[in-house]
Amino acid sequence: MDKKVSVKTLFKKKKEGKKITMVSTYDYLSAKFCDEVGIDCLLVGDSLGMVFKGEENTLGVSLEEIIYHTKAVKKGVKRAFVIADMPFGSYQVSVEKAIENAIKVIKETKADAVKLEGGKEILPIVERLADIGIAVVGHLGFTPQKIQIFGSAKVVGKREGERKRLLEEALALEKAGAVMLVLEVTPWDVAKEITQKLTIPVIGIGAGKYTDGQVLVFHDLVGLVEDIKPRFVKRYVEGSKLFKEALSQYKKEVEEGIFPSEEQSYE
Ligand code: KIV
Repeated sequence: MDKKVSVKTLFKKKKEGKKITMVSTYDYLSAKFCDEVGIDCLLVGDSLGMVFKGEENTLGVSLEEIIYHTKAVKKGVKRAFVIADMPFGSYQVSVEKAIENAIKVIKETKADAVKLEGGKEILPIVERLADIGIAVVGHLGFTPQKIQIFGSAKVVGKREGERKRLLEEALALEKAGAVMLVLEVTPWDVAKEITQKLTIPVIGIGAGKYTDGQVLVFHDLVGLVEDIKPRFVKRYVEGSKLFKEALSQYKKEVEEGIFPSEEQSYE
């Protein structure tokens, strides 16, 4: 087995110009597949609100759900760096509550890091977590936990003011002690500049090819999500089509008495 991926490994990859791979996922088997093919990082993202629970956005995801899914993902992983997403409401009330919740996640799941969305408003939390030894991944650009402000998914960093703020907040997160940064839906040239100016690895989703690595949601990249396909998603297999073909065949064979055959039956 390859060595376990650590913060040190990820920094080394950035330094050597080697791309970092990250997949968002929520269960044992998909985590095992990712780990077995050598994906570097697994993010137990609050996107599970939409993808796993069928909800409209990420706001309803609870700390308990993140803990439950992170435990399942950890069981499938031998090598990858596992990040647990702090859900909406788990770090916005106070710094103390945020620290308490992050400690709970790390203790109960044994995740390697936690991820928090936001810029200047989360700096005191990032500083405290870094001080007590919890690895923090930041998340800037389009931040789905602020969907009620954004209205819908949008590109962040097009206007000069936004671009400047993104760069300042990225640098501030690094200074506060974040070990990695996710940049979501930002123009590629902004992402490139941030990636060049930061020493911590920058992972993009809809942020072009110049970041240190990429993240996609498992269900998007294997083509299971049918209803929406943002521009930044690439489907590497038409999973929903394959699954439906298999299910239709199963239905047909049961109805026609073809399944189970002798091969699937006991003497
Ligand atoms: O929740 C999630 O899966 C995420 C990634 C899409 C970055 O935050």
